[in-house]
Amino acid sequence: MTEYPHIHYSPKPSPRPKPSPAPNPSTTSWKSAAPYASSPTAPVPKEVIENLIMTASTAPSGAHKQPWTFCVVGDPDIKAKIREAAEAEERESYNGRMSEEWLRDLAPLGTDWQKPFLEIAPWLIVVFKKAYEMEGGERRKCYYVNESVGIACGFLLAAIHHAGLVSLTHTPSPMNFLQKILDRPDNERPFLLIPVGYPAEGATVPDLRRKGLEEVSVWF
Ligand SMILES: Cc1cc2nc3c(=O)[nH]c(=O)nc-3n(C[C@H](O)[C@H](O)[C@H](O)COP(=O)(O)O)c2cc1C
Repeated sequence: MTEYPHIHYSPKPSPRPKPSPAPNPSTTSWKSAAPYASSPTAPVPKEVIENLIMTASTAPSGAHKQPWTFCVVGDPDIKAKIREAAEAEERESYNGRMSEEWLRDLAPLGTDWQKPFLEIAPWLIVVFKKAYEMEGGERRKCYYVNESVGIACGFLLAAIHHAGLVSLTHTPSPMNFLQKILDRPDNERPFLLIPVGYPAEGATVPDLRRKGLEEVSVWF
């Protein structure tokens, strides 16, 4: 196997995607269109989502396998199917499948089985991990798939928020209905479902306390 050609490291590598052109509500004409941009159903240009995905796809991955596929759903009929299937699973989870401890931990967040955001958000990004990849009809291994795809999702979430948009890391469990609805091949498994859009006017989030530095780090 031939090595990749090596090039000099530059702090600004040329192939990086341009920063997302997501409108910045404080500096652009979008501010004057506030009711539009502050609605969770306001359209987000496809190009913004493309840039977010290309940012996520710069994530490091085991042996450079890039074992991810980002399925982007804007079609209302497919979103409705996803919502229906997700709510069916979540209804069962909240009504008996989740442990008492899990339900107690979730209670302060105020979530339940209903997931209207799956139809309200202009885009759903469904991230699939590749358990293995196919090359010329042959199965090839991928390495550290969960770690790699987790890092890519972290990049994606950070980029979404950096672009002035909001999202939710959603894991309707079990998630295999996504593989069926989106007709993904056998080697792809659903990893995260990430709705993306603008925050609703007056939206609220839990006022959470972050652990302090001394709680999350140990220095040697
Ligand atoms: C891997 C993962 C899975 C999650 N799954 C769900 C989910 O299915 N439904 C939901 O409402 N929130 C889900 N969340 C959101 C978390 O509950 C949310 O991040 C938390 O309430 C806010 O705390 P944080 O900011 O410390 O993460 C998930 C978050 C992560 C990281």
